[in-house]
Order: sequence, then C-alpha cells, then structure tokens
Amino acid sequence: MQIAVIGSGYVGLVAAVGFCELGHNVICVDNDNAKLQKLRDGMMPFYEEHLKKLVRRHAGTRLSFSSDLAPAARDSQVIFIAVGTPAGENGEADLSYVEAVSREIAGAIKSYKIIVEKSTVPVYTSRWIRRSMLLNGAPAELFEVVSNPEFLREGSAIVDFLYPDRIVIGGDTPRSIAVVRSIYQPLEEGSYYADLSDIPPPPSFTGKVQIIETSTASAELIKHASNAFLAMKISFINAVATVCEAVGADVAEVATGVGADSRIGQRFLRPGIGYGGSCFPKDLKAFRAVAREVGYEFRLLDEIATINEEQKARFLRKVRGALWTLKGKKLGVLGISFKGGTDDIRESPAIPIIKALVQEGCRLNIYDPAAEERAQDELGQLGAITFASSPLEAARGADAAVILTDWAEFAELDLCAMREVLKYHLLIDGRNLFDPAEVAAKGLGYVSIGRPDSFPENHPATMNEPAQRIRIAGVNL
Ligand code: UDX
Repeated sequence: MQIAVIGSGYVGLVAAVGFCELGHNVICVDNDNAKLQKLRDGMMPFYEEHLKKLVRRHAGTRLSFSSDLAPAARDSQVIFIAVGTPAGENGEADLSYVEAVSREIAGAIKSYKIIVEKSTVPVYTSRWIRRSMLLNGAPAELFEVVSNPEFLREGSAIVDFLYPDRIVIGGDTPRSIAVVRSIYQPLEEGSYYADLSDIPPPPSFTGKVQIIETSTASAELIKHASNAFLAMKISFINAVATVCEAVGADVAEVATGVGADSRIGQRFLRPGIGYGGSCFPKDLKAFRAVAREVGYEFRLLDEIATINEEQKARFLRKVRGALWTLKGKKLGVLGISFKGGTDDIRESPAIPIIKALVQEGCRLNIYDPAAEERAQDELGQLGAITFASSPLEAARGADAAVILTDWAEFAELDLCAMREVLKYHLLIDGRNLFDPAEVAAKGLGYVSIGRPDSFPENHPATMNEPAQRIRIAGVNL
C-alpha cells in the first residue's frame, strides 16, 4: 500500500519504517527540511535502537522523505497524522498542528483517502479533523477518519511497533477499519515474524497480535486510559514504597507479591524517582482536561501527578538524610534521561533533582551514556556541573554516587571499583538497580527507594549507631 506519514518525530518515524518493514511504500512528510536532509543522509534526529538500521534499509526504495504534504497526500491511499500535540497552558493538548495538517490534506485530495490519527489526541479529535476537512472543502465522500493510537515506548519503540500486544483500530465504518487493518496483516497473520524480521521479539511477546476494532471515540479513550493506568501503577508503587520505608518492609518483595496476582501483573511496579518523558506527564494532564470539559472531575489523575511530583522531593530528602548536609558536597551523578535506553530528557525527573542539588550547594560530575548533548541547554548554564565520560569517572573523588536513570549499564557497575573511587563509599540509588545486601557485601553503603538502607560492617555512617535505623521518607528517626 502507498502510505503517507505526516510528522517524523518518535511516533511518525518509527511508524514509517515499521510500515516499510511490513512491505508498504511510505512517504514521510515533515516541514523541517534540515531534519529531512539528515534522514536522507542516514542520520537520526534521536537515538532509538534499530531505527538507523531500518531507515538505511528502506530509504530510497520503500521509504522517501518530503516536505511537500499535498502531493504526498494525493499519492497515498492512507494518510497517518503523527505530528506533535504539546500540552497547552491548562493541560489541554495543543491541536494546532493536527488542524493545520488536516486543512492541507483537505485542499490536496482528489480521490478517496483514509486519514488516520496516530498522535495522542483528546477524545473527539477525529470529529474535529473531519469537521475541519469539510470546512476546508474536502467532499464528505472522499475521506474517512480512523483512530489508530500508538503505544510504543521510547528505547524499545521499533520492537513495540513490530511486536505489539494489541493494535487498536477505531473507525465509524467497516470499510475504513478494514483498510487500516489490512496494513497490519503481516503482523496479524504472523507472516512478518515467520519470514522477514531480523528484529528479535521481546520476552513478553506471546506470538499473537490482538486486533481490537472500536469506534473512533473508544480508540481515543483507550490511549488516554492506558497511559493514565500505567502512570497510576508507578505512582501507586512509589506511594507503597514510602510506607515500606516507614515500617521497615522491602518494596521489591511487596511488588513481587502484589504483581504475582495475574489480575495485577509485575510490570510497571518498579519504584523510583517518578515517571517522566514526553507522554505520561502530558497525557495525564490532557486526560484530566478532557474529563473536566465533559463535566467530570477526575481527581484520581491529580493524585497520580501529585505523588509523582512528591517522589522527587522525597528522594532529595533521602540524599540529604544520607549526607547530612549538601552544601559543598561533591556527587557523582549517573543518568539524565527520563529512563534508560534513550537520550530524551523531556520531563526527566533527573533534571529537577540535579538542579535542586546544585541549588543546595553541591558540585556534580554527571555521566549519561546518551543524553549529555541534549542536556547541555538545560544544565550547561548552571555552573557547578561537569560531565564525565564513564560512571567511574563521574564517581571519582565524589562524596557519594547518585543513580537517577535506569540505564542497563548502571545495573552492571563494578561496585568494587566504585568503592575504590568514592570518598564516603556511598551509593544512593533512585532506581533500585541493586540488591542491598550485595552492595553492602562489596563495601558500599546503599540507600535506595522503599527498602531498608544497607551498610557494610564498620561503614563510618553506622558507627556508634543502633544496628537497625528506621527511616521515614529519607529522614532519620
Ligand atoms: C509511555 C508508554 O509506556 C507508551 O505505551 C506510550 O505510547 C508512551 O508513553 P515512554 O514514555 O517511552 O512510554 O516510557 P515508559 O517506558 O512507559 O516509562 C515512562 C516513565 O515511567 C519513565 O520515566 C520510567 O523510568 C518510569 N517507570 C516506568 C517507572 O518509574 N517505573 C516503572 O515500573 C515503569
């Protein structure tokens, strides 16, 4: 099939190469010419596993790039809209890019097209797209609007696209749903997995992709509700972690026990410094705004966001509690991006924590495997910050090391080597990457989230103190 994808951000670019993998021809449209030229030259606008390989595989054959929306729309049977929907001032998604694109499509098309919204958009956006197309002169019989939300995660976006749990297709006629469904046929039938893929499946993949057909409004709500539910799981376990600290329980044990109930599941129950990224914070606000607009005060969503905000403050108290005072302390900081596997720093909880530590008088030596360049604008001006080329370099001579991002490479740190370079032999872990007893056995004090602190024997922090120290939210009692 000939497909146009409008927007070459995470969702657009990943969908474009994903459709090429499934055998379709794709024109990827963006109004940023410099970005398009880089893509044509095989340079990626962001780091994402497998992306470069797939762009290089298909560029010039199934995949082309263009800044000209009208001919791309005219030449395609299906047009996916994957432009940004940033949060406006009161949390509502800003749909001006979506509207501008639908206006342009309306002026361009001469034969029947299916317009698919793939960006995360408020419920009823499909109606607005339809209305805007009609107002801008597109005859009603020449187009239909379908919602096909994307559930990909940064860092595993390609794998998520090619091995989805489910594909949701929301349309108001059987014809439009059938056309969009046929695009995904190689995944539904499994032929892509049998013959074509050199991208390995994730461990969670069952071998079967579920296709869910709904109305457009339901599809839009599925996206809102899924993200809100996942954010709720994270805030829930973070709140439970705080109670664990107060009663001396271990949140890892609690999460395992709770998640073993198949109705709940183990995933997204990892406590930490809170969720970030370009989706959860924005989508939660947008869902809240949608609910308010239709007359429902969805207070649960406020609470999810509040717990998430407080989690950063709680972690700072924890760092303070572990180091007594922060002024003049030197810290090795591991991680800037909002999660491991990506250089994206949007809404990263690491950023406000880093800023607060600097404000309290710390000097920071920071290492991140991918996000340093992107963080220059945010952090470069702060002063008191240097960047290191490895975790060990970041920690060398520091009073303590602080983990802020769950990069896989941090979970494999050589703890004995860390001990050698750290002044206070202390690791403060905002992502619970280690087993506390193991860290203590390597001679490091270890402070993490929702678990008792662990210290090796004779660690200066525990000398002359009762064996069991009880802490609430990082404050010694
Ligand atoms: C999310 C959704 O998972 C995806 O379906 C949607 O399409 C876009 O938003 P993404 O933002 O890429 O994807 O990241 P995700 O892996 O979901 O993590 C979001 C944040 O939650 C990160 O900051 C991560 O560190 C944090 N997180 C995740 C936790 O703190 N604990 C967990 O158990 C899981």
